[in-house]
Amino acid sequence: MEKLRLGVNIDHVATIRNARGGLHPDPVRAARLAVEAGADGITAHLREDRRHISDRDIARLATEIDRPLNFEMAATEEMLSIALRHRPHAACIVPERREERTTEGGLDAAGGLAALAPIVGRLAGAGIRVSLFVEPALKQLDAAKKLGAVVVELHTGAYCEAEGVERDRHFARIAAAAAHAEAIGLECHAGHGLAYDSVVPVAAIRSIVELNIGHFLIGEAIFSGLENAIRRMRALLDKARAV
Ligand code: PXP
Repeated sequence: MEKLRLGVNIDHVATIRNARGGLHPDPVRAARLAVEAGADGITAHLREDRRHISDRDIARLATEIDRPLNFEMAATEEMLSIALRHRPHAACIVPERREERTTEGGLDAAGGLAALAPIVGRLAGAGIRVSLFVEPALKQLDAAKKLGAVVVELHTGAYCEAEGVERDRHFARIAAAAAHAEAIGLECHAGHGLAYDSVVPVAAIRSIVELNIGHFLIGEAIFSGLENAIRRMRALLDKARAV
């Protein structure tokens, strides 16, 4: 059976570092530890405002970590040129401005075809796997396919924030979107807001091949250490796939 990949997002190690402006804690050290604890890849978002990850962090992650780097970026010329310089394994296009988002927070690929097409094309032309971070809505997946992305990452934020029947409703949307992604030939990832409890049903969806998890793991590291937190998450993914 295919293993569910775990991408660890280390952005918030940089958030803590930046609170004091020095070098500690180092997100690259966290990335190394994440790999030792079972991460299959490292995810980092270089925001336009550089509020956590820095340009230097990206340069170091691209050269010092021997696992695939998933570079999260806004669809801007600046980010495109940084991606083309470092040639990460994958680039995941995420919305940063309100007008680029759908109501729930994913990239509005369907409404932004013209602006996204050249960016997707240039990343793909450089051999970078292009992923779009979208709501679990079929029209967004169809738009991603039309744009030539090879991966979609389903936004799990609304599911994670909801409770009871509302959560079930969001979960059903994620499951349906994952099935649709597989049917139209898109590799399906998911992430945002996932924690030990919310991850289990999502990890059981067979059409999803990768989860990207950050904030919860970095927060949990305060209590149990980063390595333990990642190992526990890794074990939950493996268990969900074993049944
Ligand atoms: N996937 C994408 C595309 C993201 O932008 C983020 C970070 O916001 C995540 C996954 C991880 O989300 P979290 O830090 O809430 O686990």
